[in-house]
Amino acid sequence: MSPQQRAEELRRIINAHNYRYYVLNDPTVSDRDFDRLLKELEQLEKEHPEVDDPLSPTHRVGSDLTKGFEQALHIRPMLSLGNTYSIEEVDAFFNRVKEGLEGEQFQIVGEMKFDGTSISLIYEDGRLVRAVTRGDGTRGDIVTDNIKTIRSIPLTLQGEGWPRNLEIRGEVLLPWKEFERLNAERAFNEEPLFANPRNAASGTLKLLDPKEVSKRGLDAIFYYVLGDTLPYDNHYDNLMAARSWGFKVSEHVRLLDSLEQVNEYITYWDTGRKALPVATDGLVFKVNSLKQQLNLGFTAKSPRWAIAYKFPAERALTRLRYVSFEVGRMGLITPVSNLEPVLLSGTVVKRASLHNQDIMQRLDLHEHDMLWVEKGGEIIPKITGVDEAQRLPDAQRVQFVTQCPSCGTPLVRIEGEAAWICPNKSGCVPQIAGRIEHFVGRRMMNIEGIGEEMVMQLVTTGLVKDIADIYDLTVEKLTALEGVADKGANRIIKGIDESRQVPFERVVYALSIPYVGETGSKKLARALGDIDTIATAPYERLVEIEDIGPRIAESIIQYFGNQENRIIIDRLRQAGVQMAMPAGHDTSLSDTFAGKTIVISGTFTHHSRDEYKAIIEAHGGKNGSSVSKNTDFILAGDNMGPAKLQKAEKLGVPVIDEDAFLAMLPN
Ligand code: IVH
Repeated sequence: MSPQQRAEELRRIINAHNYRYYVLNDPTVSDRDFDRLLKELEQLEKEHPEVDDPLSPTHRVGSDLTKGFEQALHIRPMLSLGNTYSIEEVDAFFNRVKEGLEGEQFQIVGEMKFDGTSISLIYEDGRLVRAVTRGDGTRGDIVTDNIKTIRSIPLTLQGEGWPRNLEIRGEVLLPWKEFERLNAERAFNEEPLFANPRNAASGTLKLLDPKEVSKRGLDAIFYYVLGDTLPYDNHYDNLMAARSWGFKVSEHVRLLDSLEQVNEYITYWDTGRKALPVATDGLVFKVNSLKQQLNLGFTAKSPRWAIAYKFPAERALTRLRYVSFEVGRMGLITPVSNLEPVLLSGTVVKRASLHNQDIMQRLDLHEHDMLWVEKGGEIIPKITGVDEAQRLPDAQRVQFVTQCPSCGTPLVRIEGEAAWICPNKSGCVPQIAGRIEHFVGRRMMNIEGIGEEMVMQLVTTGLVKDIADIYDLTVEKLTALEGVADKGANRIIKGIDESRQVPFERVVYALSIPYVGETGSKKLARALGDIDTIATAPYERLVEIEDIGPRIAESIIQYFGNQENRIIIDRLRQAGVQMAMPAGHDTSLSDTFAGKTIVISGTFTHHSRDEYKAIIEAHGGKNGSSVSKNTDFILAGDNMGPAKLQKAEKLGVPVIDEDAFLAMLPN
């Protein structure tokens, strides 16, 4: 394979992992393996500059910038640390430092690597003036109000010796206990769970409502003091001073004098960390003397005087019993590995999702293979590999099913995706049961008393074949079922009755229209007002709605184009379910742009393009797709296309910037 081909292959793989991690929140590779891929690509691009690409994932600086927060430049850029995964690599770091310091004596500070989200706090005259997230390393979001809710952070400094201009950096964390409490609460409310405390901490810090943040139980631990006039000439003493000023500094920071002591620190914390109340994903080693730090300096990305050592992910080897194929409410088939039970990070693992056909095939699973199960920083176990040496001699490769494991219907593949679905929407039991479970769920119609087992009973007895059948249930029909008493039946009927008052936007979500989630349902309901308008809305109208993209719009059209679905909706209407927003609901906010056609071009800072489209509509205007003599004005952001600009000039169409546009809106 040529370097060019390998580089392209690596970019494809890395981009796919990035997507799973950042977008789907569902990584399928360990940090270590991911770093290995990235390192290989970096090396390749260094050795063969001709294969480099400005859009290569190696040139992507991780960013957590969010709309809705003002941003600030960091006084000093927030760099990250180089990662190592073995004693040998730490040894090599030690030797590089030794060489760099030309034989000078040096001490190392050993610290925990806390697994949260980093924060920079600025204090002036002992008062907290600003808290900024890492962002892209150069600028971050100002989250001062949220940070102030963290009780362990001093708002004014205690003690003495703090510099008048102080910057201190640390990690915002959600302790395990709070993380579990938060996820339990989210599970109860049927909200998606956080994969790990890190995601929960960064998600919480970015909430727009500080009141909500204060309820989450965040904490913060500090590990880096910066300023022009620090009290001591070494990192360790400055950290201890910071502790005396009121900051939480880890009690496990240690001064280490030799590589041997570094090794002991690693050995101890490899298991010791499991008893800590907060998540850690490694250790950090820093040269203690600030003068020596200065001499060693920085590379473009990280300091030469510090290194992170990442703990190996916890993993175990266990035998595959069989692969099952599960059918979701939308008909999606998910392969699941069923395993010989194995203990991993304190819990017994028996099953792990294989996600889809591509991921399953990449593992090249054979019957009764020995599989590596990993937990890493994630809560959900993953299959990361197969021990091929232990493969049984005649083992057959595990094949993805071609027919629905439940109803036998031949599966169809969704175009452009790795997903297979069972198209038998109205006759496949797990799909029917899944839709009913969703329909009665707390965030949808909130019908109490119908749990998973009851749904199965209703479906298998044929009493309920679709969501509308729920409204034909009676106490008599329910008590005829095995194990259902009068009390339970009455409770269900009461729940069904109350569900008739559930607001329309939740009804839309309850219908299980493929790709239409909770937010999409709300936007649809609010923009179009009632079910008939949604059902008959043309594609162009649907994609104008915020959060409704082409795929969702097509899915909506397909859903309402289906006769069976229309009958179900009519029956729900007959049963008294809300099919419109309450009277008086107005989808328009003003008629500022009534009769006007506006074209949007470029990129914006205050709102996204889709939001601007929605704003235009909500104020009575129309979104035009190209500049013509019918265009009233162009809302132009940065980098507006030159062709559009020329055309606008030629036709005399006014070009208005973002601020001027926003100023046109009524308050
Ligand atoms: S020192 C210039 N110390 O790890 C060095 N970082 O990849 C600044 N982290 O962004 C970082 N625990 O969020 C340092 N004891 C510790 C740390 C730590 C966790 C995080 C931090 C940073 C990332 C580096």
